[in-house]
Amino acid sequence: MAISLYLLYLLVLTLVSIIFLKLFKQSNSKLPPSPPTLPIIGNLHQLGELPHQSLWRLSKKYGPVIFMKLGTVPMIVVSTPDTAKQALRVFDLNCCSRPSLAGSRKLSYNYKDIAFSPFDDYWKEIRKLSVQELFNIKRIHSIQPIKYEEMRKLMTSLAESGAKKSPVNMSEKLLSLTAGVVCRASFGVSFQDTVLDSERFNELVPEALEILGSFSASDFYPYIGWILDRFTGLHKRRERSAQDLDAFCEQMIDLHLKKGKEENEDFVDLLMKLEKEKVVLGQAKFTTNNIKALLINILLAGIDTSAITMTWAMAELSRNPRLMRKVQSEIREKYGDKELISLEETEELEYMKMVIKETWRLHPTTPLLLPRQVMTEFEIDGYKIPVNTRLQVNVWAIGRDPDAWKDPEEFIPERFMDSNINVKGQNFELLPFGSGRRMCPAIYMGTKMVEFGLVNLLNRFDWELPEGMKCEDVKMEEAPGLTIYKKHDLLLVPVKR
Ligand code: HEM
Repeated sequence: MAISLYLLYLLVLTLVSIIFLKLFKQSNSKLPPSPPTLPIIGNLHQLGELPHQSLWRLSKKYGPVIFMKLGTVPMIVVSTPDTAKQALRVFDLNCCSRPSLAGSRKLSYNYKDIAFSPFDDYWKEIRKLSVQELFNIKRIHSIQPIKYEEMRKLMTSLAESGAKKSPVNMSEKLLSLTAGVVCRASFGVSFQDTVLDSERFNELVPEALEILGSFSASDFYPYIGWILDRFTGLHKRRERSAQDLDAFCEQMIDLHLKKGKEENEDFVDLLMKLEKEKVVLGQAKFTTNNIKALLINILLAGIDTSAITMTWAMAELSRNPRLMRKVQSEIREKYGDKELISLEETEELEYMKMVIKETWRLHPTTPLLLPRQVMTEFEIDGYKIPVNTRLQVNVWAIGRDPDAWKDPEEFIPERFMDSNINVKGQNFELLPFGSGRRMCPAIYMGTKMVEFGLVNLLNRFDWELPEGMKCEDVKMEEAPGLTIYKKHDLLLVPVKR
């Protein structure tokens, strides 16, 4: 009797201590500093057209971890390598889900994709399958012939413009290069044979990315926000974008249904097989909507990211002629006499790789990464990161952190000389592909596309600014969106060597 009373006493004591510790812990850790909020809108008024720039300025005033309210939704932003490391490495598992947002819900057929899907069994299985079937090194090397053909096409058209001394819109040309490669490599279809190659569809990818990057009232005011979205026209744009993307997917599926059995199996065939065999991924059957969501993911994540990187790199080089000459000498000393430089050969070009890293430091394609959703409470720098908060990492601000980078505003590829910093998500001062469980699964594919494109353009052509334009006239402003395009098209005259 005495023993059981004693055990009961111990149990009660333990329970009381746990409750006390929990309460004590809650009252001890506080929310991160917050800029002043306004009733109803919270901090929305402090976010300009380019939120990553507004958040960078706020972080200089309020510190590396800030708490904000977007309407009714709590958000935490981290802006230094160390705080990013805590979020994406130490507490990755606490915050590797995605929030539910109107734009991503619509364009992913209710989260049936990889990028916007919450952290669940479906996401784990579909991400694993894509890594095995689409993003692996073997497959990337197997699509070499496609890259060569698309690159040759681009070079021919550049040479024609060059002969006439007419400036070329590089932003556009690079987008069609990556669209050509991604479409053929992932969907087995030439870009020109798809609805994408028509005037209406030219704008499809940039428009969808702008919609995904814009702040939608439905996300911040759960019950009434949709009224505002109708008023501002965002709802209509979203519906139209979703319809156009759906038309693209329908066409892809149709083309694959008609295709002969003897032709090579591509990613779309594989997905269609999953549907036919009624495979269960996560808890539900794999359907046409799953296929469509994944195709849209590849289209939106795969095409513009590499094109944007190449455009920013060419813009930086064309306003820094000394660096342009340096990178061209490195390439030409090794491979000057080659018509096309192969994927393997790009490995040898150290300075060119530094130029790409430096481009990603100053112009990360996705400056805030994709939003994460906190699933379990944790702390960063002693500040509470509550459950159900939206978490953003400002990679754009990290690239400009004066404690991590000397002369952060200057474009100096040499800063990577004798440095081990890479972009694989282990060096938190440079995160163009993110880090942790939600990191880009196509890092090798993306890097190889950028290296291959740039190295061949720089080898075969000299690049001049349009007549009357000086280096300092190259505009470097950014356009708003989930990924950051150059606001003004980059116009250059290719001069064949
Ligand atoms: C230079 C090229 C590329 C860059 C810079 C890039 C960058 C990124 C970034 C920053 C993220 C978000 C990571 C995060 O939230 O932590 C991401 C996610 C993703 N990327 Fe890429 N990417 C590139 C190429 C590609 C390509 C070629 C594809 C596919 C064909 C692709 C597919 C994806 C997917 C599916 C996700 C979502 C991952 C998830 O949430 O689990 N990316 N990428």
